[in-house]
Amino acid sequence: MENSLLTLHNRRILLGITGGIAAYKGAELTRRLQDQGADVRVIMTRSATEFITPLTMQALSKHPVHLDLHNPDTESVMGHIELARWADLVLIAPASANFLARLAHGHGDDLLTAVCLAAECPVAIAPAMNQAMWAKSPTQKNRALLVERGIHFLGPDSGIQACGEVGAGRLLDIEALLIGASNLFASGRLQGKTVLITAGPTREAIDPVRFISNHSSGKQGYALASAAVDAGARVILVSGPTALTAPERVDLVKVTSAQDMHEAVQARLPETDIMIGVAAVSDYRPRMVETQKIKKGQCGERTLTLELVENPDIIAEAAKHPNAPFTVGFAAETENLENYAKRKLLEKNLAMIVANNVANSQIGFNSDANATTIFWAGGEINIPMMSKRALSERLISIIADRIEAAS
Ligand code: PMT
Repeated sequence: MENSLLTLHNRRILLGITGGIAAYKGAELTRRLQDQGADVRVIMTRSATEFITPLTMQALSKHPVHLDLHNPDTESVMGHIELARWADLVLIAPASANFLARLAHGHGDDLLTAVCLAAECPVAIAPAMNQAMWAKSPTQKNRALLVERGIHFLGPDSGIQACGEVGAGRLLDIEALLIGASNLFASGRLQGKTVLITAGPTREAIDPVRFISNHSSGKQGYALASAAVDAGARVILVSGPTALTAPERVDLVKVTSAQDMHEAVQARLPETDIMIGVAAVSDYRPRMVETQKIKKGQCGERTLTLELVENPDIIAEAAKHPNAPFTVGFAAETENLENYAKRKLLEKNLAMIVANNVANSQIGFNSDANATTIFWAGGEINIPMMSKRALSERLISIIADRIEAAS
């Protein structure tokens, strides 16, 4: 992925195509946005369908194409307000002179203008029209009105036009459109970073029906994944078994045991800038996994002894990697919180550790809230009790501060 376009990853782009000879370029634009990891949905005006078929755009975008304001089929899938809410960016490419005029004068009587009026996300327009039409004062006044309203313009470009004339009015080339769209997102504090988060418990098999595990619900790790996405990061969530639905726009890797989690993390370290270990990883696993269910009294005794062997320390191994990411651990403790957390910070060679008092049921396993002190070499911050989501936002911002301070 090109670095300059990383901000398009996981973005939801609503591509509006209006009627004009450049409408066919919407097909390549859709593909190129998807190549950067964007999710693209398409709205076409009726006149755009004279230049390129909705079927083509549906096949490329892999979603139904939205054509009409009052179409019971598409409105029931996603109505115009939902479409506006769904989008991170509404990008109209190509935008005709007629579309600019209608939008500039507040029209909302077709789907594309209605969505632009309802959108609270950025709206970007890539005009394409004959050079004389672009130069005319009504078009220029409409452009100025739209710019005044905070609408972004990408282009137009100058050069030879489809009609054979030369001048300003060509649709920007696809590369420039991608960069322009990408620049509109370049604001999150973790923009361009890949964050790997481990979450949930691990399960260590004893026999085909039993396992050793713990009470981690995954809530804290999943909340952090959401906060990291909102900060603009690409997020890989390596999760043990949980009952949660993964936040939107994360790359979810499901694992079961500590060894699975270790392998999944090791495989993704080269692409990881920041690793946050929230998972409650089982330190030990049974030496032998019985192939059949262990029967009661099988050994002729009233006791059963399980021999356990140590699991890999996933986060400590990551911190030792030649290209170690900025590594943040969590320490779940029931006593001596500060001492044990600081010891883990040193022993695991971490950049930061988040101390978690799991003896308090309001802020530990499966709770909706958390409270913590975060330690790093030469500093600490106390975060009072708040929702796991709010705490995640604080943590992401503290991580961004530490990374900025170190660079
Ligand atoms: O999932 P929830 O119900 O929301 O609960 C959240 C939580 C209590 C699980 C979470 O806030 C938390 O404290 N996670 C860390 C749990 C833990 O295993 O702590 P630890 O002190 O045993 O481990 C220290 C660090 O080493 C952790 O980052 C852990 O992920 C990591 N570790 C531990 C053992 C191991 N073999 N490999 C590891 O990577």
